[in-house]
Amino acid sequence: MAYPLFEGKNHASVYQKYRFTPPDEVKNIILQYLDKKKGQPHVLAVDLGCGTGQNSRILAPHFQEVVGMDISECQLEEARAVPGYPNITYRKGTAEELPFQDGSVDLLTAASAAHWFDQSRFLAEASRVLKPRGCMALLGYSDPNTRLRYQGCGERLNHICAEVREVLMPYTNNQVSVAEGKLEELFTAIPFTDKERIERIKVNSSISVRNLVGFIESWSMFQGYKKKDPQAAEELLLNTQKRFLEEMGVKSADTEIKQELEYFCVLASKPQ
Ligand SMILES: C[S@@+](CC[C@H](N)C(=O)[O-])C[C@H]1O[C@@H](n2cnc3c(N)ncnc32)[C@H](O)[C@@H]1O
Repeated sequence: MAYPLFEGKNHASVYQKYRFTPPDEVKNIILQYLDKKKGQPHVLAVDLGCGTGQNSRILAPHFQEVVGMDISECQLEEARAVPGYPNITYRKGTAEELPFQDGSVDLLTAASAAHWFDQSRFLAEASRVLKPRGCMALLGYSDPNTRLRYQGCGERLNHICAEVREVLMPYTNNQVSVAEGKLEELFTAIPFTDKERIERIKVNSSISVRNLVGFIESWSMFQGYKKKDPQAAEELLLNTQKRFLEEMGVKSADTEIKQELEYFCVLASKPQ
């Protein structure tokens, strides 16, 4: 079953603006794993559920060819509009039916996306298309474990985020809890013996209040709320921004907050 929760044009442009690019810490873990298990050359990487292409773009310098795939044409349109990546092609399609020959892919990735896939059909396809010793890397981050810091009021900012999640709870698809469980069940089901799940990769960065509110706007549950009650959803965003600024004692939404994200990564390599 596909979840058409990322189809809207406006949602796709919010995605392009506000979603996080996977950090170097995670990218390096994946590339080092591929080097160790399969080695060079790195010919073809396929990024499943690529959305607006953040993860596809960081792979581009390391592969001869990258294919980003997604079920949402609007997301792909945004991805294609980013110039400067001649070795990336974006194709509409599902993770459960991959348009690649048997044993042709060096690396399969899914960034914040594998929880939406039909587990057994995706794994069957991944096993088919990967080269011997080719790898899959399923990464993401745990929103509830994100920690914000701004002078003395970090905990109060975290509390505001938790309250927003609470409001959006009724609009949260069950699959989101699969991501929050860091893909444990999917990891267990991977039919390769060579696999590992890294549960906590802490990454520090900073984010402006404006971008943090934009990130909340990108959540599928926020979009569900907006569909049901556009005005209440708009007010939630405005009110959240106002509360952040008040707690921080600042006026500008460009003020930066320190952010610690907790990434996870499932890695697996196909047998020889
Ligand atoms: C949370 S977004 C992540 C997008 C991007 N990888 C990122 O890191 O921001 C999940 C994406 O997976 C796509 N998707 C959902 N189910 C899919 C499936 N079965 N096959 C391919 N893509 C899928 C959605 O359309 C959406 O763009």
